[in-house]
Amino acid sequence: MKLSINSIVLSIFLASFATAGPVSRGQPIANGSSKQMAPARGQTAGAAYFITNEPSGNFLITAEIGTNGQLTLRRAIDAGGIGAHGIVSPVGPDPLFSQGSVKASAAGNIVATVNSGSNTLAVFSIDPNDSTSVSMIGKPVGSGGQFPMSLAINKAGDSVCALNGGEVNGVSCFKVDKQSGLVPISNTVRSLGLNQTTPATGPAGSASHIIFSEDNTQLIASVKGVPPQPGFLAVWDIASDGSLSADFQSIAPQKGGLLPFSMTVIAGKNAILATDAGLGFDIFDFNANRNGNASTNTNNTSSSGDRSSANAIAGQSATCWSSFSPKTGNFFLTDVGTATITEVNVDNNLKGTIVKQYPQANGSATIDNDIATVAGKDFLYVLAPGATSIDVLSLDGPGKARNIQKVDIAGPAKSVGLTINANNLQGMTTFVKN
Ligand SMILES: *[C@@H]1O[C@H](CO)[C@@H](O)[C@H](O)[C@H]1NC(C)=O
Ligand SMILES: *[C@@H]1O[C@H](CO)[C@@H](O)[C@H](O)[C@H]1NC(C)=O
Ligand SMILES: *[C@@H]1O[C@H](CO)[C@@H](O)[C@H](O)[C@H]1NC(C)=O
Ligand SMILES: *[C@@H]1O[C@H](CO)[C@@H](O)[C@H](O)[C@H]1NC(C)=O
Ligand SMILES: *[C@@H]1O[C@H](CO)[C@@H](O)[C@H](O)[C@H]1NC(C)=O
Ligand SMILES: *[C@@H]1O[C@H](CO)[C@@H](O)[C@H](O)[C@H]1NC(C)=O
Ligand SMILES: *[C@@H]1O[C@H](CO)[C@@H](O)[C@H](O)[C@H]1NC(C)=O
Repeated sequence: MKLSINSIVLSIFLASFATAGPVSRGQPIANGSSKQMAPARGQTAGAAYFITNEPSGNFLITAEIGTNGQLTLRRAIDAGGIGAHGIVSPVGPDPLFSQGSVKASAAGNIVATVNSGSNTLAVFSIDPNDSTSVSMIGKPVGSGGQFPMSLAINKAGDSVCALNGGEVNGVSCFKVDKQSGLVPISNTVRSLGLNQTTPATGPAGSASHIIFSEDNTQLIASVKGVPPQPGFLAVWDIASDGSLSADFQSIAPQKGGLLPFSMTVIAGKNAILATDAGLGFDIFDFNANRNGNASTNTNNTSSSGDRSSANAIAGQSATCWSSFSPKTGNFFLTDVGTATITEVNVDNNLKGTIVKQYPQANGSATIDNDIATVAGKDFLYVLAPGATSIDVLSLDGPGKARNIQKVDIAGPAKSVGLTINANNLQGMTTFVKN
């Protein structure tokens, strides 16, 4: 039998999603409630948040970030809706095929989450005295589509955009009203036109992640390809009234790119580093005039050409999540299949280089990650559902990450009767008070 490279890549990718199993379930927490998992330890620097995404009720879990960067799970708060798991065989971790299912903003003092099975979004205000204590503002609102799976918050922290990945797919944006919650912005419900199902079928061909461009003038969504057909980034222009251009511009990865997943802005470069589940990572140079289609906010005739690239990570299985560490100047990428963290440097010419790799526990299925700066130092928080835990790494300098803590999720969840399933856990976002 002759297998093409692409079908091998895809089958390795799919197989990598079959690692984690269910964990014990307790007596479920009543709807509408909040449970304390542990008392405050004081010395709080901020918080980390992720979701249970359970079909019986989606809960936001809040964890305290101590001044030493370490985590303590503190609370589970009803998010006012239910979770869902995308259609994939075999069923595994990363239920929403996404990054950004939960997103916090220090500027807005808010944290927002999707309720993927209810087609709603919920926003919470963060207690300025205890960032693990949050209260829902208003009620959950319709996401403007089906299977919401990723959120972006603008720089000012007063606007939230959602990516819907189901049969009715595309983007939609909301103003954050401090009294009533999320209020739809006119002319922001825009279709991606994907031939999808609700819940979404994936990971191939599914939506991945939504972000604002660095200057907040564009909204960008990533979509995975169906090999050999590569995926793309969809780019809408944002008008001054917050509305979106009627159509999006589609940007393909460089040759070799297949499944664009998470997107992390490369500061000051009008460029994005996207993880690529089928390869490693792609760099999108928005200054480039590719195929006669320049990015709409680009006006740089001195540009020496397209510095976009598709970069392989040798031995990778499914590199899907990423974040940027301002203190080390490097990007940190996680691979669910190999449970490996890859540190990448992107130079002034947008050339990406692997700095170092950090293997985590075999089978721990490292997925969503985020970075927080605490007392002048960066810490990396990685959701590892295969081990029902969170890996905490101290980023002591470029190439100098070290594991400092493994945080158990199963025990604290059981102790308060919170239903969790390793395959349903999703999201990771950090908050450090401005
Ligand atoms: C919890 O509430 C949601 C709607 O907010 C509802 O769809 C779900 O069925 C409820 N779950 C339980 C266990 O009552
Ligand atoms: C925060 O703490 C200060 C001082 O203890 C108190 O005055 C203030 O009311 C608290 N704010 C909230 C929102 O609890
Ligand atoms: C949509 O996908 C389904 C399932 O793969 C397929 O049968 C159908 O032909 C597709 N429709 C279009 C318009 O591509
Ligand atoms: C992209 O370029 C093609 C060919 O130059 C053109 O027909 C098309 O309108 C352009 N699309 C956008 C969104 O600019
Ligand atoms: C590009 O720059 C030129 C010269 O500065 C200016 O006249 C033009 O309006 C700009 N175009 C866009 C699309 O910003
Ligand atoms: C224009 O492009 C060049 C080369 O790509 C880059 O060095 C320069 O910073 C860009 N200038 C602006 C204003 O974006
Ligand atoms: C990881 O687990 C797989 C499957 O259980 C096994 O084949 C492999 O040898 C393990 N690798 C390491 C480094 O332990």
